[in-house]
Amino acid sequence: MSLVCFPFKEEDVSIVVRNVEYAAQHPRVHAVLCVGYSKGETWHAIANSRAGIEARTGKRVILLLQKRIGLSLRGGKGDGMNTALLYFAENKEYSRLHFYDADIVSFSGDWITKAEQSGDLDYDLVRHYFPRSSTDAMITWLVTKIGFSLIWPNTYLPHVEQPLGGELMLTRRAVEVLVKDQRVMQQSDWGIDTLYTFVTAQAGLRVSEVYVPEGKVHALYGGLRDLRTMLVECFSALQSLQREQIHPLAGLHRMEPPKAVPTAVREKLGYDIEKTLKLLRDNWTPRQRELLHKHFDSALAKGLENSSEWPCWSFADEEAWVKAYPRFLEHFEKGDDDWEELLFKIWVARVLNHTLKNVVRGYDIALGTLRDLVRDTQHKSALQIKNAKRAADIAEKHPLAAGHSAASINGRANKKAKFGVETEVLCAVAQQ
Ligand code: LAC
Repeated sequence: MSLVCFPFKEEDVSIVVRNVEYAAQHPRVHAVLCVGYSKGETWHAIANSRAGIEARTGKRVILLLQKRIGLSLRGGKGDGMNTALLYFAENKEYSRLHFYDADIVSFSGDWITKAEQSGDLDYDLVRHYFPRSSTDAMITWLVTKIGFSLIWPNTYLPHVEQPLGGELMLTRRAVEVLVKDQRVMQQSDWGIDTLYTFVTAQAGLRVSEVYVPEGKVHALYGGLRDLRTMLVECFSALQSLQREQIHPLAGLHRMEPPKAVPTAVREKLGYDIEKTLKLLRDNWTPRQRELLHKHFDSALAKGLENSSEWPCWSFADEEAWVKAYPRFLEHFEKGDDDWEELLFKIWVARVLNHTLKNVVRGYDIALGTLRDLVRDTQHKSALQIKNAKRAADIAEKHPLAAGHSAASINGRANKKAKFGVETEVLCAVAQQ
Protein backbone atom coordinates (compact mmCIF):
# COMPACT_ATOMS: atom_id res chain seq x y z
CA MET A 1 0.00 0.00 0.00
CA SER A 2 1.29 3.41 -0.92
CA LEU A 3 1.54 6.83 0.62
CA VAL A 4 1.36 9.84 -1.73
CA CYS A 5 3.08 13.03 -0.65
CA PHE A 6 2.45 16.54 -2.00
CA PRO A 7 4.96 19.05 -0.68
CA PHE A 8 3.42 22.52 -1.03
CA LYS A 9 3.97 26.24 -0.45
CA GLU A 10 1.38 28.69 -1.72
CA GLU A 11 -0.29 27.14 -4.76
CA ASP A 12 -3.50 27.41 -6.73
CA VAL A 13 -5.76 26.02 -4.02
CA SER A 14 -8.34 24.38 -6.28
CA ILE A 15 -5.61 22.44 -8.15
CA VAL A 16 -3.97 21.21 -4.95
CA VAL A 17 -7.23 20.08 -3.37
CA ARG A 18 -8.28 18.35 -6.57
CA ASN A 19 -4.90 16.56 -6.82
CA VAL A 20 -5.14 15.37 -3.21
CA GLU A 21 -8.55 13.88 -3.99
CA TYR A 22 -7.32 12.22 -7.21
CA ALA A 23 -4.49 10.61 -5.26
CA ALA A 24 -6.78 9.48 -2.43
CA GLN A 25 -9.15 7.86 -4.96
CA HIS A 26 -6.42 5.63 -6.36
CA PRO A 27 -6.89 1.97 -5.36
CA ARG A 28 -3.19 1.49 -4.53
CA VAL A 29 -3.09 4.54 -2.27
CA HIS A 30 -3.63 4.12 1.44
CA ALA A 31 -3.20 7.73 2.55
CA VAL A 32 -2.17 11.17 1.27
CA LEU A 33 0.42 13.24 3.09
CA CYS A 34 0.50 17.00 2.48
CA VAL A 35 3.68 18.63 3.74
CA GLY A 36 3.39 22.41 4.00
CA TYR A 37 6.15 24.99 4.03
CA SER A 38 3.98 27.24 6.20
CA LYS A 39 0.43 27.59 7.47
CA GLY A 40 -0.84 29.90 4.74
CA GLU A 41 -3.90 29.96 2.53
CA THR A 42 -3.09 26.63 0.85
CA TRP A 43 -2.63 24.93 4.22
CA HIS A 44 -6.02 26.12 5.42
CA ALA A 45 -7.72 25.14 2.17
CA ILE A 46 -6.40 21.59 2.50
CA ALA A 47 -7.38 21.50 6.18
CA ASN A 48 -10.93 22.60 5.27
CA SER A 49 -11.34 20.04 2.48
CA ARG A 50 -9.77 17.19 4.38
CA ALA A 51 -12.88 15.73 6.06
CA GLY A 52 -14.82 15.75 2.78
CA ILE A 53 -12.04 13.95 0.86
CA GLU A 54 -11.64 11.41 3.65
CA ALA A 55 -15.40 10.74 3.71
CA ARG A 56 -15.62 10.36 -0.07
CA THR A 57 -12.56 8.15 -0.51
CA GLY A 58 -12.25 6.34 2.80
CA LYS A 59 -8.52 7.32 2.90
CA ARG A 60 -6.66 9.45 5.40
CA VAL A 61 -5.37 12.88 4.45
CA ILE A 62 -2.49 13.86 6.73
CA LEU A 63 -1.34 17.46 6.99
CA LEU A 64 2.16 18.14 8.33
CA LEU A 65 4.27 21.24 8.65
CA GLN A 66 7.76 20.64 7.26
CA LYS A 67 10.49 20.19 9.85
CA ARG A 68 13.80 22.05 9.95
CA ILE A 69 16.15 19.13 9.36
CA GLY A 70 19.18 20.29 7.38
CA LEU A 71 20.28 23.11 9.62
CA SER A 72 23.33 24.28 7.71
CA LEU A 73 21.42 25.25 4.58
CA ARG A 74 18.30 27.28 3.77
CA GLY A 75 15.09 25.51 4.74
CA GLY A 76 13.31 24.73 1.48
CA LYS A 77 12.13 21.85 -0.66
CA GLY A 78 14.69 19.45 0.84
CA ASP A 79 13.29 19.80 4.34
CA GLY A 80 9.79 19.26 2.93
CA MET A 81 10.71 16.04 1.12
CA ASN A 82 12.85 14.79 3.98
CA THR A 83 9.99 15.42 6.44
CA ALA A 84 7.94 13.03 4.31
CA LEU A 85 10.78 10.48 4.21
CA LEU A 86 11.00 10.46 8.00
CA TYR A 87 7.23 10.13 8.36
CA PHE A 88 7.26 7.19 5.95
CA ALA A 89 10.25 5.58 7.69
CA GLU A 90 8.40 5.64 11.02
CA ASN A 91 5.07 4.43 9.66
CA LYS A 92 5.76 0.93 8.49
CA GLU A 93 2.31 0.12 7.12
CA TYR A 94 3.18 1.78 3.80
CA SER A 95 5.42 0.02 1.29
CA ARG A 96 5.90 2.82 -1.27
CA LEU A 97 6.15 6.59 -1.11
CA HIS A 98 5.18 8.80 -4.05
CA PHE A 99 6.03 12.50 -4.47
CA TYR A 100 4.18 14.88 -6.78
CA ASP A 101 4.41 18.63 -7.06
CA ALA A 102 1.13 20.00 -5.74
CA ASP A 103 0.55 22.47 -8.60
CA ILE A 104 0.40 20.07 -11.57
CA VAL A 105 -2.69 20.90 -13.62
CA SER A 106 -2.34 17.73 -15.71
CA PHE A 107 -2.03 15.38 -12.70
CA SER A 108 -4.26 12.30 -12.62
CA GLY A 109 -4.40 8.82 -11.15
CA ASP A 110 -2.54 7.58 -14.24
CA TRP A 111 0.67 9.09 -12.88
CA ILE A 112 0.32 6.89 -9.80
CA THR A 113 -0.61 3.81 -11.85
CA LYS A 114 2.46 4.19 -14.07
CA ALA A 115 4.80 4.38 -11.11
CA GLU A 116 3.09 1.50 -9.29
CA GLN A 117 3.35 -0.74 -12.36
CA SER A 118 7.06 -0.03 -12.67
CA GLY A 119 7.41 -0.70 -8.93
CA ASP A 120 5.79 -4.09 -9.50
CA LEU A 121 8.84 -4.92 -11.68
CA ASP A 122 10.99 -4.45 -8.57
CA TYR A 123 12.60 -1.11 -9.34
CA ASP A 124 13.62 0.66 -6.15
CA LEU A 125 12.95 4.10 -7.52
CA VAL A 126 10.58 5.18 -10.27
CA ARG A 127 10.85 8.65 -11.76
CA HIS A 128 8.31 10.30 -14.01
CA TYR A 129 9.60 12.16 -17.02
CA PHE A 130 7.73 14.18 -19.57
CA PRO A 131 8.24 16.33 -22.64
CA ARG A 132 9.56 19.79 -21.76
CA SER A 133 9.85 23.01 -23.68
CA SER A 134 13.18 23.56 -25.47
CA THR A 135 13.85 26.59 -23.25
CA ASP A 136 12.78 24.89 -20.03
CA ALA A 137 14.98 22.54 -17.96
CA MET A 138 18.04 24.75 -18.36
CA ILE A 139 19.37 23.85 -14.91
CA THR A 140 18.74 20.17 -15.58
CA TRP A 141 20.61 20.24 -18.90
CA LEU A 142 23.40 22.69 -18.22
CA VAL A 143 24.14 22.12 -14.57
CA THR A 144 23.05 18.65 -13.56
CA LYS A 145 23.43 16.59 -16.71
CA ILE A 146 26.67 18.32 -17.74
CA GLY A 147 28.01 17.98 -14.19
CA PHE A 148 27.17 14.27 -14.10
CA SER A 149 28.80 13.84 -17.53
CA LEU A 150 32.00 15.55 -16.47
CA ILE A 151 32.41 13.95 -13.07
CA TRP A 152 30.86 10.48 -13.42
CA PRO A 153 30.74 9.84 -17.18
CA ASN A 154 30.83 6.07 -16.98
CA THR A 155 27.83 5.67 -14.68
CA TYR A 156 24.16 5.88 -15.57
CA LEU A 157 23.82 9.37 -14.06
CA PRO A 158 24.25 11.36 -17.31
CA HIS A 159 21.47 9.23 -18.83
CA VAL A 160 18.86 10.08 -16.23
CA GLU A 161 16.46 12.14 -18.28
CA GLN A 162 15.03 14.33 -15.52
CA PRO A 163 17.37 14.09 -12.54
CA LEU A 164 15.77 17.10 -10.84
CA GLY A 165 12.21 15.85 -11.27
CA GLY A 166 9.96 16.14 -8.23
CA GLU A 167 7.66 13.33 -9.34
CA LEU A 168 8.94 9.99 -8.17
CA MET A 169 8.12 6.84 -6.28
CA LEU A 170 10.41 5.23 -3.72
CA THR A 171 10.22 1.78 -2.21
CA ARG A 172 10.93 1.27 1.47
CA ARG A 173 14.41 0.08 0.52
CA ALA A 174 15.13 3.36 -1.27
CA VAL A 175 13.73 5.44 1.59
CA GLU A 176 15.94 3.57 4.04
CA VAL A 177 19.03 4.34 1.96
CA LEU A 178 18.12 8.04 1.89
CA VAL A 179 17.14 8.59 5.54
CA LYS A 180 20.34 6.96 6.76
CA ASP A 181 22.45 9.30 4.65
CA GLN A 182 23.44 12.53 6.38
CA ARG A 183 24.30 14.17 3.04
CA VAL A 184 20.65 13.75 2.07
CA MET A 185 19.14 14.79 5.38
CA GLN A 186 21.30 17.93 5.48
CA GLN A 187 20.28 19.03 1.99
CA SER A 188 17.31 21.15 2.98
CA ASP A 189 17.22 23.33 -0.16
CA TRP A 190 16.73 22.91 -3.94
CA GLY A 191 19.77 20.62 -4.00
CA ILE A 192 17.63 17.77 -2.65
CA ASP A 193 16.75 16.31 -6.06
CA THR A 194 20.44 16.08 -6.98
CA LEU A 195 21.11 14.27 -3.71
CA TYR A 196 18.27 11.77 -4.16
CA THR A 197 19.44 11.03 -7.70
CA PHE A 198 23.10 10.75 -6.79
CA VAL A 199 22.77 8.79 -3.57
CA THR A 200 20.38 6.22 -5.01
CA ALA A 201 22.82 5.69 -7.91
CA GLN A 202 25.78 5.41 -5.55
CA ALA A 203 23.87 2.86 -3.45
CA GLY A 204 23.36 0.77 -6.58
CA LEU A 205 19.57 1.00 -6.61
CA ARG A 206 17.47 0.08 -9.64
CA VAL A 207 15.83 3.07 -11.30
CA SER A 208 13.17 3.27 -13.92
CA GLU A 209 11.91 6.38 -15.68
CA VAL A 210 8.32 6.28 -16.87
CA TYR A 211 7.00 8.63 -19.52
CA VAL A 212 4.01 10.89 -18.97
CA PRO A 213 3.03 11.99 -22.50
CA GLU A 214 0.67 14.81 -21.55
CA GLY A 215 3.54 16.63 -19.86
CA LYS A 216 3.62 18.55 -16.64
CA VAL A 217 1.43 21.57 -17.04
CA HIS A 218 2.28 23.84 -14.16
CA ALA A 219 3.29 27.39 -13.38
CA LEU A 220 6.45 28.40 -15.33
CA TYR A 221 8.62 31.40 -14.55
CA GLY A 222 9.04 34.95 -15.85
CA GLY A 223 12.62 36.07 -16.34
CA LEU A 224 15.43 33.69 -15.47
CA ARG A 225 15.97 35.74 -12.29
CA ASP A 226 13.29 33.50 -10.72
CA LEU A 227 15.65 30.55 -11.10
CA ARG A 228 18.75 32.10 -9.53
CA THR A 229 18.41 30.46 -6.11
CA MET A 230 17.59 27.12 -7.66
CA LEU A 231 20.60 27.40 -9.98
CA VAL A 232 22.99 28.21 -7.14
CA GLU A 233 21.63 25.47 -4.87
CA CYS A 234 21.60 22.80 -7.57
CA PHE A 235 25.14 23.64 -8.64
CA SER A 236 26.39 23.78 -5.08
CA ALA A 237 24.84 20.38 -4.27
CA LEU A 238 26.71 18.89 -7.20
CA GLN A 239 29.91 20.66 -6.25
CA SER A 240 29.66 19.18 -2.74
CA LEU A 241 29.58 15.67 -4.27
CA GLN A 242 32.38 16.07 -6.80
CA ARG A 243 34.91 13.92 -4.95
CA GLU A 244 32.48 11.09 -4.36
CA GLN A 245 32.96 7.83 -6.17
CA ILE A 246 30.45 5.58 -7.87
CA HIS A 247 31.22 2.18 -9.21
CA PRO A 248 30.61 2.32 -12.97
CA LEU A 249 28.50 -0.86 -12.82
CA ALA A 250 26.46 0.25 -9.81
CA GLY A 251 22.70 0.14 -10.15
CA LEU A 252 20.49 -0.13 -13.16
CA HIS A 253 18.64 2.50 -15.15
CA ARG A 254 15.79 1.80 -17.55
CA MET A 255 13.82 4.35 -19.48
CA GLU A 256 10.46 4.01 -21.15
CA PRO A 257 10.83 5.46 -24.68
CA PRO A 258 9.20 8.87 -25.18
CA LYS A 259 6.31 9.58 -27.55
CA ALA A 260 5.61 12.49 -29.90
CA VAL A 261 5.91 15.81 -28.08
CA PRO A 262 2.57 17.69 -27.86
CA THR A 263 2.38 20.91 -29.91
CA ALA A 264 1.73 23.02 -26.83
CA VAL A 265 5.06 21.89 -25.36
CA ARG A 266 6.95 22.24 -28.67
CA GLU A 267 5.78 25.82 -29.05
CA LYS A 268 6.13 26.95 -25.47
CA LEU A 269 8.77 29.53 -24.66
CA GLY A 270 9.95 28.80 -21.12
CA TYR A 271 10.96 32.29 -20.04
CA ASP A 272 10.73 35.97 -20.93
CA ILE A 273 13.70 36.81 -23.22
CA GLU A 274 13.44 40.59 -22.96
CA LYS A 275 13.44 40.57 -19.17
CA THR A 276 16.32 38.12 -19.20
CA LEU A 277 18.52 40.20 -21.52
CA LYS A 278 18.66 42.90 -18.88
CA LEU A 279 20.09 40.48 -16.32
CA LEU A 280 23.49 40.54 -18.02
CA ARG A 281 23.74 44.26 -17.34
CA ASP A 282 22.67 44.21 -13.69
CA ASN A 283 24.58 43.89 -10.42
CA TRP A 284 28.18 44.10 -11.66
CA THR A 285 30.92 44.69 -9.08
CA PRO A 286 34.67 45.22 -9.59
CA ARG A 287 35.33 41.89 -7.84
CA GLN A 288 33.14 40.03 -10.29
CA ARG A 289 35.30 41.38 -13.11
CA GLU A 290 38.42 40.37 -11.23
CA LEU A 291 37.19 36.79 -10.60
CA LEU A 292 36.06 36.54 -14.18
CA HIS A 293 39.48 37.43 -15.59
CA LYS A 294 41.37 35.43 -13.00
CA HIS A 295 39.55 32.12 -13.39
CA PHE A 296 37.99 31.99 -16.84
CA ASP A 297 38.99 31.83 -20.45
CA SER A 298 39.74 35.27 -21.90
CA ALA A 299 37.13 35.01 -24.70
CA LEU A 300 34.43 34.22 -22.16
CA ALA A 301 35.59 36.95 -19.80
CA LYS A 302 35.65 39.53 -22.56
CA GLY A 303 32.30 38.45 -23.93
CA LEU A 304 30.59 38.62 -20.57
CA GLU A 305 32.05 42.04 -19.87
CA ASN A 306 30.79 43.27 -23.24
CA SER A 307 27.34 42.01 -22.35
CA SER A 308 27.30 44.42 -19.42
CA GLU A 309 27.11 47.22 -21.98
CA TRP A 310 25.16 45.77 -24.85
CA PRO A 311 23.09 42.57 -25.14
CA CYS A 312 25.33 39.85 -26.59
CA TRP A 313 25.53 36.12 -26.04
CA SER A 314 27.45 34.48 -28.89
CA PHE A 315 30.51 34.06 -26.64
CA ALA A 316 28.53 31.70 -24.34
CA ASP A 317 28.47 28.73 -26.67
CA GLU A 318 28.50 25.06 -25.68
CA GLU A 319 32.27 24.82 -25.57
CA ALA A 320 32.63 27.92 -23.41
CA TRP A 321 30.17 26.50 -20.88
CA VAL A 322 31.88 23.08 -20.68
CA LYS A 323 35.23 24.82 -20.22
CA ALA A 324 33.88 27.15 -17.52
CA TYR A 325 32.11 24.42 -15.58
CA PRO A 326 35.23 22.84 -14.00
CA ARG A 327 36.45 26.30 -12.98
CA PHE A 328 33.23 26.71 -11.02
CA LEU A 329 33.57 23.21 -9.56
CA GLU A 330 36.96 24.19 -8.29
CA HIS A 331 36.49 27.76 -7.13
CA PHE A 332 32.78 28.59 -6.70
CA GLU A 333 31.79 29.63 -3.20
CA LYS A 334 28.16 29.43 -2.23
CA GLY A 335 27.12 32.40 -0.13
CA ASP A 336 29.68 34.63 -1.85
CA ASP A 337 27.52 37.05 -3.76
CA ASP A 338 30.06 37.75 -6.50
CA TRP A 339 30.61 34.06 -7.22
CA GLU A 340 26.87 33.42 -7.23
CA GLU A 341 26.29 36.35 -9.57
CA LEU A 342 29.05 35.16 -11.93
CA LEU A 343 27.61 31.66 -12.10
CA PHE A 344 24.20 33.16 -12.72
CA LYS A 345 25.38 35.54 -15.44
CA ILE A 346 27.40 32.95 -17.34
CA TRP A 347 24.46 30.54 -17.14
CA VAL A 348 22.04 33.27 -18.33
CA ALA A 349 24.33 34.00 -21.28
CA ARG A 350 24.47 30.27 -22.10
CA VAL A 351 20.67 29.97 -21.94
CA LEU A 352 20.30 33.01 -24.21
CA ASN A 353 22.86 31.58 -26.61
CA HIS A 354 20.96 28.27 -26.69
CA THR A 355 17.66 30.07 -27.21
CA LEU A 356 18.81 32.43 -29.94
CA LYS A 357 21.10 30.01 -31.76
CA ASN A 358 19.39 26.61 -31.36
CA VAL A 359 15.78 27.12 -30.29
CA VAL A 360 15.12 29.45 -33.22
CA ARG A 361 15.89 26.51 -35.53
CA GLY A 362 13.02 24.48 -34.14
CA TYR A 363 12.20 22.18 -31.26
CA ASP A 364 13.90 19.03 -32.52
CA ILE A 365 17.15 20.78 -33.39
CA ALA A 366 17.19 22.53 -30.02
CA LEU A 367 16.69 19.30 -28.08
CA GLY A 368 19.24 17.60 -30.35
CA THR A 369 21.92 20.14 -29.45
CA LEU A 370 21.30 19.58 -25.75
CA ARG A 371 21.51 15.80 -26.11
CA ASP A 372 24.67 16.08 -28.25
CA LEU A 373 26.30 18.32 -25.69
CA VAL A 374 25.67 15.84 -22.90
CA ARG A 375 26.81 12.88 -25.00
CA ASP A 376 30.01 14.59 -26.23
CA THR A 377 30.88 15.83 -22.76
CA GLN A 378 30.35 12.39 -21.29
CA HIS A 379 32.44 10.73 -24.01
CA LYS A 380 35.36 13.17 -23.81
CA SER A 381 35.40 13.00 -20.06
CA ALA A 382 35.34 9.18 -20.03
CA LEU A 383 38.33 9.08 -22.41
CA GLN A 384 40.18 11.61 -20.37
CA ILE A 385 39.72 9.55 -17.22
CA LYS A 386 40.91 6.40 -19.02
CA ASN A 387 44.00 8.16 -20.36
CA ALA A 388 44.87 9.66 -17.01
CA LYS A 389 44.49 6.27 -15.36
CA ARG A 390 46.66 4.59 -18.01
CA ALA A 391 49.36 7.20 -17.55
CA ALA A 392 49.22 6.77 -13.79
CA ASP A 393 49.45 2.94 -14.11
CA ILE A 394 52.47 3.17 -16.41
CA ALA A 395 54.15 5.61 -14.11
CA GLU A 396 53.54 3.35 -11.14
CA LYS A 397 54.86 0.22 -12.88
CA HIS A 398 57.78 1.75 -14.78
CA PRO A 399 58.73 4.99 -13.11
CA LEU A 400 62.27 4.96 -14.46
CA ALA A 401 61.39 3.91 -18.03
CA ALA A 402 59.03 6.83 -18.11
CA GLY A 403 61.90 9.01 -16.99
CA HIS A 404 59.99 10.31 -13.97
CA SER A 405 59.02 9.16 -10.57
CA ALA A 406 55.47 7.90 -10.18
CA ALA A 407 54.82 10.79 -7.88
CA SER A 408 55.92 13.37 -10.42
CA ILE A 409 53.86 11.75 -13.18
CA ASN A 410 50.83 11.58 -10.95
CA GLY A 411 51.45 15.15 -10.03
CA ARG A 412 51.55 16.14 -13.67
CA ALA A 413 48.42 14.14 -14.53
CA ASN A 414 46.71 16.00 -11.74
CA LYS A 415 47.27 19.33 -13.42
CA LYS A 416 44.88 20.59 -16.06
CA ALA A 417 43.30 18.29 -18.59
CA LYS A 418 41.55 19.28 -21.79
CA PHE A 419 38.35 20.46 -20.15
CA GLY A 420 40.39 22.03 -17.45
CA VAL A 421 38.88 19.46 -15.06
CA GLU A 422 41.27 18.30 -12.39
CA THR A 423 42.12 14.75 -13.46
CA GLU A 424 42.47 13.95 -9.80
CA VAL A 425 38.75 14.48 -9.44
CA LEU A 426 37.87 12.48 -12.50
CA CYS A 427 40.18 9.64 -11.57
CA ALA A 428 38.18 9.11 -8.44
CA VAL A 429 35.75 7.13 -10.57
CA ALA A 430 38.29 5.13 -12.52
CA GLN A 431 40.46 4.16 -9.61
CA GLN A 432 38.00 1.87 -7.86
C1 LAC B 1 15.08 22.65 -14.50
C2 LAC B 1 14.24 23.64 -13.77
C3 LAC B 1 14.22 24.91 -14.41
O1 LAC B 1 14.71 21.49 -14.58
O2 LAC B 1 12.94 23.17 -13.63
O3 LAC B 1 16.10 23.03 -15.05
